[in-house]
Amino acid sequence: MSKICVIGSSSMDLVVTSKKRPKAGETVLGDSFKTVPGGKGANQAVAAARLGAEVCMIGCVGDDHYGKDILDNFKANGVLTDYVEPVTGQESGTAHIVLAEGDNSIIVVKGANDHVTPEYVQQAQPALKEADIVLIQQEIPEETVDYVSGLCKTLGIPLLLNPAPARPLRRETIENAAYITPNEHEASILFKGLSQEEALQRYPGKLFITEGKNGVRYHNGHEEKLIPAFPVEAIDTTGAGDTFNAGFAIALSEGKDIESALRFANRAASLSVLKFGAQGGMPKREEVERELS
Ligand code: RIB
Repeated sequence: MSKICVIGSSSMDLVVTSKKRPKAGETVLGDSFKTVPGGKGANQAVAAARLGAEVCMIGCVGDDHYGKDILDNFKANGVLTDYVEPVTGQESGTAHIVLAEGDNSIIVVKGANDHVTPEYVQQAQPALKEADIVLIQQEIPEETVDYVSGLCKTLGIPLLLNPAPARPLRRETIENAAYITPNEHEASILFKGLSQEEALQRYPGKLFITEGKNGVRYHNGHEEKLIPAFPVEAIDTTGAGDTFNAGFAIALSEGKDIESALRFANRAASLSVLKFGAQGGMPKREEVERELS
């Protein structure tokens, strides 16, 4: 069983569904409101656990009722929470999501996730050292991502960096990561001045640009390749990227070649969009394997 360590955000998603997305200054009537567990880090941890990995989460929650619900959700999904701390006097991270016109728009308030500092990760090193692969995203402080990239490089543990939401990265952080998985928008910010083709060519076998229902593009050292997504009728695409990252990390840590790992990850992501909520549709291992066969 692969051991995966996820360092990142754990939030509560406050989701409104509506037929129409309001323009600036406009008020529209919505259809429903629900709170469900989310946060890119937590989503990736839960997805990896459902896909059969032993998962340790390194993160922070608030000392509010959302924090308790987030912790309960980790436990219900078998994610190890020894390094998920409630922060006194701090609110949990929240994501304010509008699901309308077939897509989502999200505003994240980081809250306790800002306490996932380099010092905080340092005290969780025993868990990190055990990992076959480490997953990190960008809803935590920038200096933590830089620190973890250096630490993983020193420890010889592959780091999968999902640079979401977008922000520029230090060259060294890019060099330290084993795999980087931006979407097209994030890639254009990370590799400003380079075309997508040039960026892929510069980082063969390391840079994987996700293109939603198109699939994933990368360069294998000889040529650019697109591994197509599996076509489905999506109900909610929130968390699809997180499922992709978890699936890709697991498949790589199990020794699958890149193309097979991408197919596994794409399949898991395509199943994840069939239910409401970031984690609602995240599939179990057997479901992905059944679909692949
Ligand atoms: O990647 C999806 C996640 O992004 C949501 O669950 C929400 O929490 C936002 O952070």
